[in-house]
Amino acid sequence: MNYRTFDSAEIDHQQTYRMLIGSIVPRPIAWVSTISADGVPNLAPFSFFTMVSHYPPMVSISVGEREHRMKDTARNIVDTKGYVIHTVVNGWEEKMNASSANFEPDEDEFAAAGLDTVPSDVVGAPRLANAPVAMECQFDRLIDFGDEWVTHLVIGRILRWHVREDLMLEDKYIDPYKLAPVGRLGGPRYCRTQEIFEMPAPYVQPDKAHPNDPQP
Ligand SMILES: Cc1cc2nc3c(=O)[nH]c(=O)nc-3n(C[C@H](O)[C@H](O)[C@H](O)COP(=O)(O)O)c2cc1C
Repeated sequence: MNYRTFDSAEIDHQQTYRMLIGSIVPRPIAWVSTISADGVPNLAPFSFFTMVSHYPPMVSISVGEREHRMKDTARNIVDTKGYVIHTVVNGWEEKMNASSANFEPDEDEFAAAGLDTVPSDVVGAPRLANAPVAMECQFDRLIDFGDEWVTHLVIGRILRWHVREDLMLEDKYIDPYKLAPVGRLGGPRYCRTQEIFEMPAPYVQPDKAHPNDPQP
């Protein structure tokens, strides 16, 4: 079989970006609500998104720069600390995409996208009304990467979840069939969760089990 090999020391930032977004797929999308120091709410999607630790529950988003300045999301999180991450699901993709437009910092992106909000319980940023899953988060730390192309890795702790009641199974699990999450692929491509299959993990002795291992 023939392969093309790409050495990251030899490709420019654009090709590096293409390699990342093409090979790390599908990516969940964090739809992030923040509030500025002046009280202006902000909403934008981020697919460089993952969980960092399960207990405490820590999550990260990687926020690039626009014209060598922090995007509003990262700026707001650093300034006001509390933010909300929403899971993007079927039916919300158009509004999610619309919220990625380059709005001015003093523009309310919820209003611009025609999205209603409700106050959060424990953070200042509002959350999306009717969102299937919302996570209220507290800023923990910022780690910067790069010189010419700076990325701000924003790590936060989830303080509280809001899960639509009909999505809960046995009051324990979030039902992936009903949730219907949408993922990001390379370029302008997305995927839906169309086919779910089950595959029991290899047996692990209960006293050696980790939460990732099969649960009784
Ligand atoms: C599906 C999707 C995923 C995105 N993921 C990222 C990302 O991981 N990091 C990033 O810096 N920008 C990402 N963007 C672009 C930002 O959403 C966009 O720059 C937005 O305007 C930032 O808003 P803000 O300036 O209000 O923070 C993504 C856009 C879309 C549509």
